[in-house]
Amino acid sequence: TKIGILGVPFEKGQPKKGVSQGPDAIRKAKLVEQLSAIHDKMDIKDYGNISYTVNKELEASVPNMKGYAEIVGCTHEVSKNVEKIIKEGRMCLTLGGDHSIALATVDGHIKAKDNEICVLWVDAHADCNTNKTTPTGNVHGMPMALIPYELADYWPYLPGMDWHKPVMSIRNVAYIGLRSVDSYERLIIEKLGVTAFFMADVENYGISRVVEMALDRIDPDKKRSLHVSYDIDALDTLEAPSTGSAVRGGLTLREGIQIMEIAHNTGRLGAMDLVEVNPSIGSESDVKKTVEAAIHIILAAFGYNRKGYKTQEPLPL
Ligand code: ARG
Ligand code: MN
Ligand code: MN
Ligand code: MN
Repeated sequence: TKIGILGVPFEKGQPKKGVSQGPDAIRKAKLVEQLSAIHDKMDIKDYGNISYTVNKELEASVPNMKGYAEIVGCTHEVSKNVEKIIKEGRMCLTLGGDHSIALATVDGHIKAKDNEICVLWVDAHADCNTNKTTPTGNVHGMPMALIPYELADYWPYLPGMDWHKPVMSIRNVAYIGLRSVDSYERLIIEKLGVTAFFMADVENYGISRVVEMALDRIDPDKKRSLHVSYDIDALDTLEAPSTGSAVRGGLTLREGIQIMEIAHNTGRLGAMDLVEVNPSIGSESDVKKTVEAAIHIILAAFGYNRKGYKTQEPLPL
């Protein structure tokens, strides 16, 4: 198993300080050590944290997109790095940072795999506002509207974003865990027929069936590289309190892990984002809980087995 880890300490896609410390908090909790312990063929390369330059002239060039110049600078760099890591034959694990960076991780994955990808978006939120529908101007609520070509006409020209080509179809995207959706987002989901599993669906079908149905819809021929964009706020607030837009009534950690075990078992996981862990929110034990939850989810993605592992050795006498 070849993995490349990319840290993106970016927080300009939302208003709260601290989410840029997510990557280092997750690393400090021994992510690489625990990944390495899964089996002896783990080959992990940490590419460190991204750095980028900002063209200040772009600031405020698009209405209702806060932090626009920083977004442009960071996402361009993220896209290039993700593309490179995947082309080096590694699964790319991107640690956020806020969720705005996912417009770039998906873009890099698309470029590395010639658009033969599909996306599972695990989140309490749909993150598909445009700059005309957003209630906040926070770009972490917009990446899903920038990814598919079906929404391209609803955007104005975005200076500095010419590298970003919306070439994938919304048909290859599914949501899991939704429970806080703005009315224009709901309109978009219904108008485009987006595959969306809300919390009520998790309740009704169970998480395994939800993931199987989602994968069937977004990759019916079982041939696409799978991208999972995992917002930690998909989990219930009790499981992941240290995040900027927590919504109660969410996934249990057990369900959250199950999603990634199924994703792993497809054998087609190509990239994963784990975003919105904010170590500045909540108590020390809140932060510890949230970071541990993030690590469990990541370990499941790369083959950690809750059943334990088989041995070739006989039971010692
Ligand atoms: N829908 C709200 C907005 O557009 C909240 C988005 C929260 N997104 C997130 N990645 N946590 O601002
Ligand atoms: Mn969210
Ligand atoms: Mn999100
Ligand atoms: Mn494996």
